[in-house]
Amino acid sequence: MEKEEILIIDFGGQYNQLIARRVREQNVFCEVVPHTISIEKIKEKNPRGIIFTGGPSSIYSDNAPKCDEKVFELGIPILGICYGMQYMAYTLKGDVKRADKREYGQMRVNLENKSKLFSGLKKENICLMSHTDYVDKLPQGFDKIAHTNTCKIAGMEDKKRKFYGVQFHPEVNHTENGYKIIKNFVIEICGCKAEWKMDLFAKKTIESLKRKIGDKKALCALSGGVDSSVAAVLLSKAIGKNLTCIFVDHGLLRKNEVEEVENIFTNKFDVNFVKVDAKDRFLNKLKGVTSPEKKRKIIGEEFIRVFEEEAKKIGTVDYLVQGTIYPDVIESGLGKSSVIKSHHNVGGLPDYVDFKEIVEPLRDLFKDEVRKVGKEVGLPDYLVNRQPFPGPGLAIRIIGDITDEKLNILKEADYIFREEIAKNNMEKELSQYFAVLTDTRSVGVMGDERTYDYLIALRAVVTDDFMTAKFAKIPYEILEIISQRIVNEVEHVNRIVYDITSKPPATIEWE
Ligand code: XMP
Repeated sequence: MEKEEILIIDFGGQYNQLIARRVREQNVFCEVVPHTISIEKIKEKNPRGIIFTGGPSSIYSDNAPKCDEKVFELGIPILGICYGMQYMAYTLKGDVKRADKREYGQMRVNLENKSKLFSGLKKENICLMSHTDYVDKLPQGFDKIAHTNTCKIAGMEDKKRKFYGVQFHPEVNHTENGYKIIKNFVIEICGCKAEWKMDLFAKKTIESLKRKIGDKKALCALSGGVDSSVAAVLLSKAIGKNLTCIFVDHGLLRKNEVEEVENIFTNKFDVNFVKVDAKDRFLNKLKGVTSPEKKRKIIGEEFIRVFEEEAKKIGTVDYLVQGTIYPDVIESGLGKSSVIKSHHNVGGLPDYVDFKEIVEPLRDLFKDEVRKVGKEVGLPDYLVNRQPFPGPGLAIRIIGDITDEKLNILKEADYIFREEIAKNNMEKELSQYFAVLTDTRSVGVMGDERTYDYLIALRAVVTDDFMTAKFAKIPYEILEIISQRIVNEVEHVNRIVYDITSKPPATIEWE
């Protein structure tokens, strides 16, 4: 796809992914690259503009990150954020000084409206500042465009060369209307046309896959999750029956999930769909196993074995399809070649599958963009908007050993929970929600009889990144109905509790 691109040069800041998100929200493609990128590589990418990120270093420290100074000679607009601004000022022969103490928090910043960078913003804007060094003297050609009570140069511009710097972080929500600053830079200053749209992406990707793969064969491990499903559909639209999708049913998926995936990929798309019914194999291996980590390991290994056996039946394929998405690429380390996405937390699929090349059609996309592509190519909403589901599946939601009976209890309870959340239109509010079958039994009374049955825990969290999470405040009235329904409809459950711990200290999953 022809890309109009903004290049984000990474100086080690913690908000770099957010900068990329903000640019993408303007329908402009961007990528984050390490500061060690060569000038030739930058020229090759031919960006419309460059953003220098923030970073924790002082420009005067020994290993202060720097990039090739020739970026300033490319005639391309540059926006430096925080450390990025200091780096710009220092390199262009201004002066950067060290303050006695760090300025941190939301500050009132006076913006000088005449700068294009701030057009549409109020004169006084609350911005997140986080810095110790500051620009004391502007480089030649620059004007001051913002200040605070304590920071006399909180923004600078060289209108002629289109170089801009801000001492605060426009990419975070703590900065009022920060997205407008990014928008002004990307659209008004760099002149990007905002053409990075997912309908066009889908169309162009399918065309280019068609050209690249031609009548060769590709293989895809389909998990039923969003990423692998969208990748598979793009490939199916490009090469049809030359794509084989292998779907390993380990018996640990949620109620109806296997049928849903099978139905879509056999009826809606024209691919070779191989479902491997491996439930017994997995349950045999898991018999009597109670340790969460052991469960994960067994499932991971067995998954590889099953996939390998099926792949062997197909023989050599030319391409292996992976659902890698952009956050995987960023997280696996910039500058290094990206690690192949592991399946179910075990690395190395390519080691044992005989293939020539990997195709990763979603490598450039964020999750919400993947969902948009999914919709474009005709995947149903329930699949596209699916909440994350761990590779080891229900195995880590059954505390203690796993049996067929326990699996059935959990599937039914979880299904009721999901059904009620859907009925109450709460799906979008919750990041992840599921039932857990504990290994506790307690006494209850049903009719005139005493029962001694399982305890189900309900877990629902709200989070952006799954690294931290808050327990969701589902209204009691809804919890009450869920509890009544589970106890009435699922045999061997007589008590329900709601997990009210956030992460940390708890994790989202129970195992
Ligand atoms: P925790 O429980 O660590 O979960 O707070 C964070 C997110 O990761 C998912 N998760 C897993 N995903 N394999 C996966 O593919 C795993 O072994 C695994 N363990 C946890 C969890 O569902 C949540 O979204």
